[in-house]
Amino acid sequence: MTNGIFISFEGPDGAGKTTALNTLLPMLEAKTTKEIITTREPGGSPIAEKIRDLILDVKNLEMDDRTEALLYAAQRRQHLVDRILPALEADKIVLSDRFVDSSIAYQGGGRQIGEAEVKSINDFAIEDTMPELTVYFDIPSEVGLQRIKKDRDGQQDRLEKEKLEFHQRVRHTYLDLQAQDPKRIKVINANQDPTQVVEDVLELILTKFPQAFSK
Ligand code: TYD
Repeated sequence: MTNGIFISFEGPDGAGKTTALNTLLPMLEAKTTKEIITTREPGGSPIAEKIRDLILDVKNLEMDDRTEALLYAAQRRQHLVDRILPALEADKIVLSDRFVDSSIAYQGGGRQIGEAEVKSINDFAIEDTMPELTVYFDIPSEVGLQRIKKDRDGQQDRLEKEKLEFHQRVRHTYLDLQAQDPKRIKVINANQDPTQVVEDVLELILTKFPQAFSK
């Protein structure tokens, strides 16, 4: 048994979760004696980062959807073994920017491979390691896409170039996953002031893990 805590952060592109995570980290660190590590997918370890480059390369437009889903599952396996499991075994708190729900939402829903199919290859990859808490940043697809355009000045990766319907399917799949597992997946309204978003996430984490954080 480990006293480590695994929390994932999920949401469509442009939901602002990465920015919120950066602001949140020092706030959480001030409230715990445990060590916190942050990591991200796709990537998070040297081999997983190489797979990330392959998946997100704009030149790989002809990549088959199932190849893409398998590569995401492969980078996840490596990331889990290299980063997440050792940290949890050392009783650390792991904050991961994306994990398995991203694949179910993007490849299962967005690419329309199907939730169950994508879940099954990911079950193989992760065995039984799931986050205790998943913070889902919810935002209307139009708003998320608009934010990406503004932030990156037209610099979008391959997946972000997909059309609005793709992003809508991603969002619907996230909401479906949340409805199936409301104990693990908690919704944050990401379509509000960023300071409020961070406060909401902080409150959620402090309430869920009172043994690890002081209020
Ligand atoms: P990234 O630039 O890290 O985006 P973000 O800052 O929004 O997290 O690229 C991640 C992209 O990869 C994002 O569009 C979501 C997608 N993705 C999947 O399609 N499936 C997955 O399993 C994961 C982890 C990410």
